[in-house]
Amino acid sequence: MNSILFFRCVYIIFILACIFEVGYGKTVFEYVFNKACQSEGINLVLIPWGTYLLWPIVLNGPCNGLLEFVIIGTLKAPTDKAYSINVDHWITFQHIDGLIITGGGKLDGQGPSAWNENNCSKDPNCKTLPISLRFNFVNNSRISYLHSVNSKEAHVNIWGCNHMKLNHIHIIAPKDSPNTDGIRIGSSSNIEILNSIIATGDDCVAMSSGSKDIIIQNVKCGPGHGISVGSLGRFPNEKDVSGLWVTNCTFIGSQNGLRVKTWATPYSSNVFNLTFEDIIMDNVNNPIIIDQQYCPHANCQKGNSQVQIQDVKYRNIKGTSYSKLAVTFDCSKIKPCENIELNHIDLTYKSARGHAASSCSNAKGIAIGQQQPRSCL
Ligand SMILES: *[C@@H]1O[C@H](CO)[C@@H](O)[C@H](O)[C@H]1NC(C)=O
Ligand SMILES: *[C@@H]1O[C@H](CO)[C@@H](O)[C@H](O)[C@H]1NC(C)=O
Ligand SMILES: *[C@@H]1O[C@H](CO)[C@@H](O)[C@H](O)[C@H]1NC(C)=O
Ligand SMILES: *[C@@H]1O[C@H](CO)[C@@H](O)[C@H](O)[C@H]1NC(C)=O
Repeated sequence: MNSILFFRCVYIIFILACIFEVGYGKTVFEYVFNKACQSEGINLVLIPWGTYLLWPIVLNGPCNGLLEFVIIGTLKAPTDKAYSINVDHWITFQHIDGLIITGGGKLDGQGPSAWNENNCSKDPNCKTLPISLRFNFVNNSRISYLHSVNSKEAHVNIWGCNHMKLNHIHIIAPKDSPNTDGIRIGSSSNIEILNSIIATGDDCVAMSSGSKDIIIQNVKCGPGHGISVGSLGRFPNEKDVSGLWVTNCTFIGSQNGLRVKTWATPYSSNVFNLTFEDIIMDNVNNPIIIDQQYCPHANCQKGNSQVQIQDVKYRNIKGTSYSKLAVTFDCSKIKPCENIELNHIDLTYKSARGHAASSCSNAKGIAIGQQQPRSCL
């Protein structure tokens, strides 16, 4: 156990870095990380009370023992334009087996300094801004009691990871901030997101190509764009998405609730075994939606999606829809959605006396129990 040493080292030098507000934090952070990574056993790195400026950093394993980061203070990302436009990350952990991050501290991405550089809604080939926290090829990790505010782009990106548990995570950015997804997952399996609050300008959780066996439980989403599978089908050779279980979650004032989105392109993959259970919608624009003609830009490739969606269950979904169309299944003509289950759906249209409605195209499945709106399956 080298925690005392690390504690002293981090503490003293971070205070200097803090006082002088120099880009000094990075060297210290790297030094401490490398020491901790090289040691066997459990190694603690403590970021104590206070606010520290930290330059973009990659914390690269493999390590010889288990790493535990206890973040108590606040880390702030730099606001320099040169850095915002040229780096895809702020803090990256990669190639690590056995990582714990906890402590109740905060990561402040200082997004307001960079959001006006984001022109992705106009330019499909835009450069993306830095993601606050990236995990690349990290196995067996637990991230808990962490706050992330105002990321410049997404808050957390999980890529090539297995067995990760995120618990008591609090993510926040304004509802009109561009592309500030809460948690993005791709090419990863056995990921759990539990007991968390995610309020941003984009997706609450987005699961792209290769996401497998994901559990999302007791999560509050909104504002933002809801929990999304996808978008899928934008690129060739995407991997399947399967084994998603979303349970006991609440959506408040979000643009979507439970969404699957695929582009209408010639690239094929499969989406199957998704279960959405015990969900409350509070004034959500599209509570349940499968959109196989997803097109966030004006000029998308037009055609039929080749992404096959099947075995998707919606069980006990209730609350209010902000729009009349509470349930939308807009599936592909050549790969219709198969085996969709609507089971006890109770969604009312909030802002008028009319009833909520549902719309199906190319969707096959069954309706069980109460159905409000009336099922179109
Ligand atoms: C993570 O697990 C995968 C699959 O078991 C393995 O191939 C990879 O080497 C592991 N990575 C690390 C950093 O331990
Ligand atoms: C978007 O911004 C980049 C610079 O970050 C610029 O090169 C590109 O031309 C811009 N695109 C549009 C459509 O404004
Ligand atoms: C469901 O979520 C609520 C809070 O949103 C929590 O109080 C309750 O314990 C959760 N129930 C289960 C079964 O997890
Ligand atoms: C479906 O997904 C759930 C939740 O991730 C998983 O536990 C289950 O084993 C999967 N079922 C099949 C048939 O793959």
